[in-house]
Amino acid sequence: MNKTDILIIGGGIIGLSVAIELRLCGAAVTVLSRNFKQAAAHAAAGMLAPQAEALSSGAMLDLCLRSRSLYPDWTHKLEIMTGIDTGYWPCGILAPAFAEDIKNGLTPPDQCQLLPSSPWLDQAAIQQHQPGLSPKVVGGWWFPEDAQVDNRALAQVLWAAATQLGVNLCEGVPVEAIHHQHGRVIGVEALLGEWQAEQYVLATGAWSAELLPVPVSPRKGQMLSVQASPFEGTAQPLQQVLFGSQIYIVPRQDGRIVIGATVEDVGFTPSNTPAGIQTLLREAIALYPCLQDFPVQEFWWGFRPATPDECPILGLSPYDNLIIATGHYRNGILLAPVTAKLLSDLIVHRKVDPLLAHFDWQRFTNTNDRLSMS
Ligand code: GLY
Repeated sequence: MNKTDILIIGGGIIGLSVAIELRLCGAAVTVLSRNFKQAAAHAAAGMLAPQAEALSSGAMLDLCLRSRSLYPDWTHKLEIMTGIDTGYWPCGILAPAFAEDIKNGLTPPDQCQLLPSSPWLDQAAIQQHQPGLSPKVVGGWWFPEDAQVDNRALAQVLWAAATQLGVNLCEGVPVEAIHHQHGRVIGVEALLGEWQAEQYVLATGAWSAELLPVPVSPRKGQMLSVQASPFEGTAQPLQQVLFGSQIYIVPRQDGRIVIGATVEDVGFTPSNTPAGIQTLLREAIALYPCLQDFPVQEFWWGFRPATPDECPILGLSPYDNLIIATGHYRNGILLAPVTAKLLSDLIVHRKVDPLLAHFDWQRFTNTNDRLSMS
C-alpha cells in the first residue's frame, strides 16, 4: 500500500497546478498521471480569452477574469522557479466579423457593456489594426486584456516545477477505481498498486466519468499549425490572436501560427480527419488569406472535458476527503491558476471562496444529468 498526504488523480494542467500550490503550502503531494502527453493541455491553443469567448456576465466570467488577472504573476513565478519560458504573451485578442456574422445576429458579448470604452473597431480601423485580414471583414471587437500562453511550454514548466518542488509524479499510472466507505474515500486502485491519502483531488479531465459519475464527457478538438516566418529575417506577421466565429488563429513569438479548433461530440474517437482539417483551413484562410502560403507544420487533436452547462465542477464532492477539479471544457488553460488557488485554500485553510458555490457538483443533481454517488 502506497501512502501520501494528498493524492491528485490526473497529471494534466489542472492536476499539476493544484499539486504545485499544495506543495508550496508544505503538503506531501503525489500525482498519478495516466498519460501526460494525452492531457488536454497539449491540445489547446493557450488562449486566455474570457472576453473573446463571449462568456455571459456572472460567476463563470468572474472566475475567468480572476484567473486571467493571476496569469502574469503565476507564470512569472513558475518561470523563475524553472528557468523555462511559458510563452505568456499579453498580446490582446481581435474578434473580426463578416457582414453575415452581423446579419446572423452576432452581437458583442454582453460584458462589452461593462468595458470603459467600446471595443468595436470599424472596417477601416480593424484593417489598420491588423493588416492582411480579408477585405470582407467589416469590423470587429478588440479585447486588449485577453492574452495567450504557450500551452505546451506551460505543461513542461508545470511538470518541471512540480518535480523541482518534490511532488511525487507518477507517470503512466492510470487510476482504475476509487473505493469509498461511509462517505469517505478509503483508497484508490491504480495500475501499480493501491494508494491511500488523507485528501484526494480528482482532476482527470475528459476521463473523469470513468471514476465518478460526474456529467463530464469528451469534446474533441482538432488543430493544426503553420510556420508564418519560415525564412530567416521574416517576422511573425500576426501580433495578436484572431478569434473568428468558427476558428481562432494564434500566433506564437517563435513564428508559428496555431489554428483551432473543431468541437466534436464523437467520444474518444482519435485522429485528425479530412473534414475537420478542411473546415479549419477554409475558415482560417477566409479570415486571414495570407495563411494559404505558409508551410504546414503539424496536425493534432485532443479532448476537452465538457459539462452540460460548459462550466467546471470545482470544490467539495459527496466524499468528505475528495475535492473535484474537472470539466473546464474550453477554458482549462485559462482557469488553471484560479483553480489551483481556490482549491488549495479550500484544502489547506478550509477557506471556501464564495465563487465556488456556483461550480458545485450538486448543481447537476436536479437535472437529467443526475449525479448519483451513493
Ligand atoms: N479554448 C478554445 C478551445 O477549447 O478550442
